[in-house]
Amino acid sequence: MALINENYLKLQAGYLFPEIGRRVSEFIAANPDKKVIKMGIGDVTQPLVPSVLKAFHEGVDEQGTAASFKGYGPEQGYAFLRETIADNSFAGLGISADDIFISDGSKCDTGNIQEIFGASNKIAICDPVYPVYADTTVMTGKTGVCQSNGYYDGIIYMPCNKENGFTPELPTETPDLIFLCYPNNPTGTVASKEELKKWVDYAIKNKAIILFDAAYEAFITDKDIPHSIYEIEGARKVAIEFRSFSKTAGFTGTRCAFTVIPKELMAYDSKGNTHAVRNLWNRRHSTKFNGVSYPVQKAAAATFTKEGKKEVQDIINYYLDNAKIMKQSLSEIGYEVFGGVNSPYVWAKTKNNMSSWDFFDKVLNEANVVGTPGSGFGPSGEGYFRFSAFADRENVIEAMERVKNLK
Ligand code: MLT
Repeated sequence: MALINENYLKLQAGYLFPEIGRRVSEFIAANPDKKVIKMGIGDVTQPLVPSVLKAFHEGVDEQGTAASFKGYGPEQGYAFLRETIADNSFAGLGISADDIFISDGSKCDTGNIQEIFGASNKIAICDPVYPVYADTTVMTGKTGVCQSNGYYDGIIYMPCNKENGFTPELPTETPDLIFLCYPNNPTGTVASKEELKKWVDYAIKNKAIILFDAAYEAFITDKDIPHSIYEIEGARKVAIEFRSFSKTAGFTGTRCAFTVIPKELMAYDSKGNTHAVRNLWNRRHSTKFNGVSYPVQKAAAATFTKEGKKEVQDIINYYLDNAKIMKQSLSEIGYEVFGGVNSPYVWAKTKNNMSSWDFFDKVLNEANVVGTPGSGFGPSGEGYFRFSAFADRENVIEAMERVKNLK
């Protein structure tokens, strides 16, 4: 008799974004004449930049001749990409190419990383939070059931609200693994050096590991905000960092990301012996993953060339300008708005204490605009709504105009 992993039975409903997709498809089917503007899931709209496209084509062409054809690549990624990342993204931070693992996405990596840590680990997550962290904690058997307040037994939740500036306090119960995401999805909050130092010191003191999701670091424009947790002294001993080309360079459909696990980072077995986390991840990666395709890695490396950097930055600026327009428009019509600076996400309080899903339905039905209900990211997101700045400029302007006209 085949038995299922019963942890899956603890999961609440479907994953957030497919549920939104389902509601939107239903609306479009019933209203085929309406132009729906999507600002829900953070999916990019601007095409790959010329340098990336050129390298991508070259990579494909190389696969077409015997002399340059490549079969399986290294599971960890080609050296040319890992070295380029180490030199460009982590210069002076003590990260080397062999600490870097190329993958097909940070969503997969932030979920899969849980597998190398024991089921008895206590996980701390922010609330609201990118749903992958909580759902994969459940899938890997580290929780009990979900309570009526939306919290799973066994997870340490760190509420992030207006009162604490959407910045989590240190938890009262000590976690073993701590998920942090900066710039934050969904609230758009950023963390100062002091804030990150607080977490690094806490992790060192408690022999905990920080799982630092930096998928949106490219949107940081403020020079005092750290792009990497490794800018904080001691972080290499306690932090794993996840980065992605998805939002940075328009790779949501092309797929390329990377995870950094410094050699110094140790975890413990039940006898208290230390083990290099990097080696466990390397073992997992080599067993379960066959690498990202060569043309995609070539394309990713092109984002670090002189022209590539400039072209990619222009696109980031375009999305940041969208965020600015959205933040300003929503503020002008009386919404309380957070994020949207150093971040592609604008986090707005609904009016008249409307619930997040009621607001979602109202905005969809009356303005034909799709956003993401804050409560989908956790109970503390109730009463909030997230708008993504990854739309076309003209759609952003039109969407804001339509939201302005909501009754
Ligand atoms: C989001 O909208 O939160 C993200 O696009 C989802 C993701 O990156 O998987």
